[in-house]
Amino acid sequence: MDAHRRPLIDRTPALLAEGYAWLPNRMRDSNGSVLRTRLLGRPALAVRGPEAVRFFYDESHVRRHGAVPAPVLDTLFGQGAVHTLDGDAHRTRKELFLPLLEADPVARLTDHVTTAWDEAVRSWSERDRVVLFDEAAVVLTRGVRDWAGLPPRSFDAEPLALDLVAMVDGFATPGPRHLRARRARARQETRMARLVEEVGSGDLVAPADSVLERVARHRDPAEGPLDSRTAAVELLNVLRPTVAVSWFVAFAAHALHRWPAHRERLRGGDAEFATAFAHEVRRFYPFAPFLGGRTVTGLTWHGESVPAGGILLLDVYGQNHDEELWGDPYAFRPERLLDRPPGRDELIPQGGGDPAAGHRCPGERVTVGLLEALAVRLARLEYTVPEQDLRIPLRRIPTRPRSGFAVTGDALPD
Ligand code: HEM
Repeated sequence: MDAHRRPLIDRTPALLAEGYAWLPNRMRDSNGSVLRTRLLGRPALAVRGPEAVRFFYDESHVRRHGAVPAPVLDTLFGQGAVHTLDGDAHRTRKELFLPLLEADPVARLTDHVTTAWDEAVRSWSERDRVVLFDEAAVVLTRGVRDWAGLPPRSFDAEPLALDLVAMVDGFATPGPRHLRARRARARQETRMARLVEEVGSGDLVAPADSVLERVARHRDPAEGPLDSRTAAVELLNVLRPTVAVSWFVAFAAHALHRWPAHRERLRGGDAEFATAFAHEVRRFYPFAPFLGGRTVTGLTWHGESVPAGGILLLDVYGQNHDEELWGDPYAFRPERLLDRPPGRDELIPQGGGDPAAGHRCPGERVTVGLLEALAVRLARLEYTVPEQDLRIPLRRIPTRPRSGFAVTGDALPD
């Protein structure tokens, strides 16, 4: 039987076993930019590279409805989330998130988060040891909660942070982490739905133009207002990923520890370098492994084909470590992004294409803004990094330094 026709073995177990390395390893064994495989019982084609990004985001090629497995919806995104919509339904729902692309709301959110960070840092000096991942999650929760218009009295930041982190941590794995993620989502969807209902009934006044107010009054021209559960899902689709920036904060701390020379430029307030550093953290460290859509029609890419009803995968981690695109991709070098700011479809830790028109993450500006501000604060902090397990296992999705990055000493700003 010729190699093209041979039934392919389903690679779902390999994905679970190899994590981030799964697609890049297979790509290396094939011709380097396309791979035919099987996933979740379906034929799949994995692609990478800026041109492939445009191929992947072409709506006539893939649709998202039915593409995200139920365990991911029940933990990470929520049923009926914007991630799962196509065409007009997607564009209308996406409008809810478009203010995130503007400078002013992002600056206000960054102010809330940096104020919460500075307060938290003052309290660290009374403690022997803090774990930066955990602290960052609480700080980000406090900041985004206040910015999004949630009443702080009803939403204590610490338990909310634990639930938002759990939803991300457990989406890609069976077992106890997954169960925690499901429980966290169920609990928070119920609370957020109640909140949206209170705003709808007038029992609670949401701050004008806050995320809470916007989800509560959002109308889909075809379907009318969002039901309170769907509104809760979309409210969580702002809260949860903002708190997920704590993964990048832990990675930034890891980078400053491994390559301390970057500290000086960040401390000095070099804004362009801070942006390049934030981009390099998002490129270098693993977060989203790949993205997937269901093929609408038979597709061929660089000689390999997938039938309609199959899966098209965009190899996010692989593209962010593509030798051709980045040169020496496994070196952490923010300068590479100073010399040459990334093209739209080159650096894709949060998806590719146009965020207003397609599924690209609308929170990229938020992520970069928060990461810049917090990386500068980290670089200005005096601390000791005690003995701990700083390994970042590539088999774990999502991964992070095993210890969460603990620091000790007088964690006080200079
Ligand atoms: C979509 C990553 C932060 C809101 C996405 C996608 C990725 C991603 C990979 C999928 C793109 C696609 O399907 O084509 C990340 C990472 C983040 C982050 C790694 C940082 C930790 C944020 C933030 C927000 C946000 C801060 C909001 C405040 C969303 C939404 C979508 C999305 C609403 C769905 C967009 C759509 O389907 O049209 N993100 N994101 N994300 N992200 Fe983010």
